[in-house]
Amino acid sequence: MNNGLIIFLGIFGALALSWYGMIVTPQMQIGGQEPVMVEQIGSRYPVPRPGLAWEGREIYRANGCYYCHTQQVRPPGFGGDTERGWGIRQTVAQDFLYETPLMLGSRRLGPDLANIGLRQPDVLWHLMRLYDPQVVAPRSTMPAYPYLFEKRPIGKAPSPNALPLDGAHAPEAGYEIVPRREAHALVAYLLSLKADVPLFEAPHPPSPEEEEEDSESPENASGENAQASL
Ligand code: HEC
Repeated sequence: MNNGLIIFLGIFGALALSWYGMIVTPQMQIGGQEPVMVEQIGSRYPVPRPGLAWEGREIYRANGCYYCHTQQVRPPGFGGDTERGWGIRQTVAQDFLYETPLMLGSRRLGPDLANIGLRQPDVLWHLMRLYDPQVVAPRSTMPAYPYLFEKRPIGKAPSPNALPLDGAHAPEAGYEIVPRREAHALVAYLLSLKADVPLFEAPHPPSPEEEEEDSESPENASGENAQASL
């Protein structure tokens, strides 16, 4: 056998192995996932997002929010995401069945948003933050998105949708800031971000009372039963 053949087989083998490990194996493990029935919510999970939130997803994507925000809560013990209050449970593949493209994000210049809809359900808070993050977080370094809003002269009466801005953030006298459809859509998307449904592979952690009960009963002390009840 000459060297060329050995080199070729070596390279081919390395590529084939990594293709098998990184593409075929995950596809076999989770490629066939489908929505599952979850008793606690009485429906299948995940539930597709409402229409306006789908639209908002594109705005999120177009504005590159995922450059600074992740949407993935790591399991307890891997970075303290649940301790920070970013989620009740870890994020799993099931949460993203309807998501293409997936905007998991890779850098965290801002907080994780996987559960922002649970953490901050207030629409006005989100709108004000998008118009100018420093309205709600005075030292924020997040960019402002004023083009999602319209600055217009106040007509006969101020619009009921105008943002209640005051001080340095308010527009000049006689003008008001009104959210465009894009801003409403983006907020609808943010409010739809909640991975709170308990799943078989990602159950909710036991509440403090449950943990107490577990540690009191001696047969659970070994931890074996706690495993089995997952
Ligand atoms: C350059 C980085 C950057 C980009 C891009 C960015 N953000 Fe942020 N974001 C931050 C930082 C930093 C914070 C934390 C400070 C603060 O509260 O404003 C934050 C905070 C937030 C919060 C509050 C989270 C919480 O837990 O209180 C929301 C909601 C948010 N961003 C949404 C968005 C959306 C939507 C976009 C895209 C339109 C976006 N961000 C783009 C950096 C960014």
